Amino acid sequence: MPHDFMPGLAGVPAAKSSVSDVDGERGILEYRGIRIEDLCAKSSFLETAYLLLFARLPAKAELADFTQDITRHRRIKFKIVDLIKCLPEHGHPMDALQAAVAALGMFYPGRNVRDTENNYWSAVRLIAKLPTIMAAYARIRRGDDHIVPCDELSFCENFLYMLSEKEPNPVLAKTLDACLILHAEHTMNASTFTGLVTASTLADPYTVVASSIGALKGPLHGGANEEVVQMLKEIGSPSRVRPYLEARLQAKQKVMGMGHRVYKVKDPRATVLQELCEKLFRECGTSPLYDVALEVERVSAELLGEKKIYPNVDFYSGIVYDKMGLDVDFFTPIFALARVAGWLAHWFEQLRENKLYRPDQIYSGEHNRAYVPIEEREP
Ligand code: ACO
Repeated sequence: MPHDFMPGLAGVPAAKSSVSDVDGERGILEYRGIRIEDLCAKSSFLETAYLLLFARLPAKAELADFTQDITRHRRIKFKIVDLIKCLPEHGHPMDALQAAVAALGMFYPGRNVRDTENNYWSAVRLIAKLPTIMAAYARIRRGDDHIVPCDELSFCENFLYMLSEKEPNPVLAKTLDACLILHAEHTMNASTFTGLVTASTLADPYTVVASSIGALKGPLHGGANEEVVQMLKEIGSPSRVRPYLEARLQAKQKVMGMGHRVYKVKDPRATVLQELCEKLFRECGTSPLYDVALEVERVSAELLGEKKIYPNVDFYSGIVYDKMGLDVDFFTPIFALARVAGWLAHWFEQLRENKLYRPDQIYSGEHNRAYVPIEEREP
């Protein structure tokens, strides 16, 4: 059956899903039918993860059990710590995360993906252990010992504690939790699709998540948040925004953190992140990057608004993480530790009616070419 070729599969449905929905014209994002603004204001990352995985909000006891399961599985085996110690300090943390997640699959028997009980525990382990792996890499690469998770602390408090060994600031932990909710899921994006392609072969969930992490790393996807902060630092002050953007567009370079395949208005996550930024600044002092970002948004609307290019989720997230004192190359791993909930929700959904992904191609090469012996080939 002939089909139109859609580069980047733009507009081509790759699955039926009830995990989340985007209205790109009106700037609406819902997880299981609930608006993200509502979840950010009223929910927590773990409750949102439960909602994504099981398609409903948990009852009190269910959330308590889920939270306890996650809390009990935060520790990582000393061999995973040893593996992290062997990784180069100057490598990218996304590569460390990908390597450690792939290695986790060698420790836990998650091979039978028909076993729903086992799949639940795989999901719990992945959500629980990603922050521990990241914090371990952050510390080990600067020569410090890794810190064992603290069961008394919440998901985000514990992550901040494992990074710094200090008592976590509740305002930062709350802000991070809201950021994780915003990054937890986003329909059929590149990393989710990558994971589902891997999952369609009935590969184990650690392999699925490791492949999604690889896709998330690229600068056109999750990697954009790092580049936004680098760009804002490079610009330096609001007065330099216009000439910088004009030169960039002249050179046919993209403005990082701007534009989206689906949103034709400002990404609703960028709006919530901007509010989080302002709240954080009121509590912890402002950031010079924010004034530059506001000017980039204003001038970009003038220069790119015609093409319906507005801030996406990555535009303000980097500023929040920068203010929290996190290393720039840790911004995308934080995205990953949230998005793992969405990846796993899609994985659960796909397993119910799995079909191997095997798309078609449009062959544009030649046929019936002669094999020329090496001695007779043109140099
Ligand atoms: N800056 C300048 N121009 C842009 C930008 C941008 N950020 N984004 C799109 N455009 C322009 C393109 O140059 C192109 O213009 P043209 O038609 O005159 O040639 C037009 O808009 C369409 O752009 P495409 O790249 O073809 O559109 P696509 O749907 O593939 O773009 C994408 C989506 C990849 C996100 C793009 O907007 C981009 O590269 N943005 C910057 C990177 C970024 O912020 N990525 C994070 C996305 S959110 C996430 O993954 C979590």
